[in-house]
Order: sequence, then C-alpha cells, then structure tokens
Amino acid sequence: MTDPRPENRRLWNEWSDDFQALWNADTDEGGSPPAPSPLAADAPGGRPSELLDAVEGIDYVELGCGGGQGPVGTAELGADRVVGVDLSGEQLRHARRLRDHRGVDARFLAGDAAALPLANDAFDVAASVAALQMVPDLEGAFREARRVLREGGVFVLGVPHPIHEMLDVEAGRFERGYFDEDRRRITIDESYDAELVVFDRTVADLHNALVDAGFEVRRLFELRHHRADGDPGESDLPDLLWKVPGEVRFWAVAA
Ligand SMILES: C[S@@+](CC[C@H](N)C(=O)[O-])C[C@H]1O[C@@H](n2cnc3c(N)ncnc32)[C@H](O)[C@@H]1O
Repeated sequence: MTDPRPENRRLWNEWSDDFQALWNADTDEGGSPPAPSPLAADAPGGRPSELLDAVEGIDYVELGCGGGQGPVGTAELGADRVVGVDLSGEQLRHARRLRDHRGVDARFLAGDAAALPLANDAFDVAASVAALQMVPDLEGAFREARRVLREGGVFVLGVPHPIHEMLDVEAGRFERGYFDEDRRRITIDESYDAELVVFDRTVADLHNALVDAGFEVRRLFELRHHRADGDPGESDLPDLLWKVPGEVRFWAVAA
C-alpha cells in the first residue's frame, strides 16, 4: 500500500486557502473569524461534565488541527498550554494567522498524527476532529494520542460518520456499502494535482481500536451533518443528509 500522507499533504497545501475561506465565509469584513473549541459547552454533542468539568488550566493538543480553530478556541476558554499538530504547512500558516489575529497563546507544529513530535504524558486533553479518517495507521495514531496524554486524560475523537460516507449526496442514494474496502480517493477540485485519500472505518472498528490503544470509551455521539440544523422543510440540503448522522464523536479516557 503506498503511503497516502505525501499526497494528502499536497492536497491540503493546495486546498488550504479555499478551505479556510469556507470557514470564514460568514465573517464580516474585518471581523474575527470563528474559532470554536471541541471542548466548549455548546460544541457538537456538548462537553460531558463528568469527563471534563472545566477547560481552564488544562494542557491541550489537537491532532490534524487544520486552520487552528480548535486550539485557538480552546486557548480562549482558558487552557494553559495549547498545541496543534498538522501535516500541511499551509494549514499551519492559517492556524498561526488565526492565533495572532485572536491574540492567544498556542503553538503549531508540523507533524504526523501517527508520529507526534511531542513528549510522553504531556497533556490533559487530546482532540481530533475531521482528520484521522486520512490517517492510514489508525491504531498508531490512537497509540500516539494515548502516549502524549497523562493517565486519566481525555481523548475527544470526531470523524465523518461511516454511514454519511456511504452516500452519494448529489444523487440522493447510497453509493457504497458499510463494510466495503476501506481506502478511497476523493477529487476535491479537478484543477488540483493531488486527491484526498481517506479510510472508511466502521463504528466498531473505531471503538475497538480506541480500546486496544488503552482508552476507555465513555461517551459516543452521533451528530447531524453540521449544516443540518433548523427546519428540514426550509433547507436546501439534500433530504438524505437529514436522515443520517454526519459525524461520530467519541469521548474516551486514558486508562
Ligand atoms: C478537514 S481538516 C480538519 C481541521 C480541523 N480539525 C477542523 O475541524 O477544521 C483535516 C486536517 O487534517 C490534516 N491531516 C491529514 N492527515 C494528517 C496526518 N496524518 N497527520 C496530521 N494531520 C493530518 C490535514 O492537513 C488537514 O489540515
């Protein structure tokens, strides 16, 4: 199997400006771009208070941090030490710009989620949202998350829900099976040289890999597609997107 990481890095370097423009699409001229934290009380699924009662003073790392919205938002909630790791230099450039714009303290490092450039037992919370579906060695990435967390630390993992990934949204039907071969290429834009390489995993695969890496899974959220809020009757979203979860998000504890 060829290593998908060089191609994914190229793709994200090509896509980064347009992707971050989508993030910032509703920002008023000169306004502050959004920086939601996955640890905010109003984050998708919420923050289970029995697992994390406060963000103030924690040490936080985000794997596949992209444009830095999660780390910057978490720093704004009062986290002490904040680090974001990403494969793409262009995504990290956007992350550092957002950090400077919002005037918070966060460090952004180039690196692979399955080989983190970080010390053991260094963080209270690790999070990864919409990134680890691109990592070929999922078990390795989970072991790395466990390694950098202190005992009792929390791992928040969100990936596209595998049922959502079965859809051809435009055609309004399923185009692959839940148990189909796990490696897939996605053309983001015909003008880009690179394609996105992703890996489909079932919910059971994700759950069991977390357990094997030394986590106790405490909460599981199946979240609607991020655009599916409000009233389906008044939405321009394809019907199918209202009927399936868009993301699966785990909250697990380092045992
Ligand atoms: C869809 S973005 C998500 C970014 C951010 N978490 C968010 O929710 O907006 C996915 C990010 O994962 C990064 N990524 C892909 N493969 C990676 C890997 N093996 N290690 C670290 N980051 C990776 C990409 O460069 C990209 O910035």
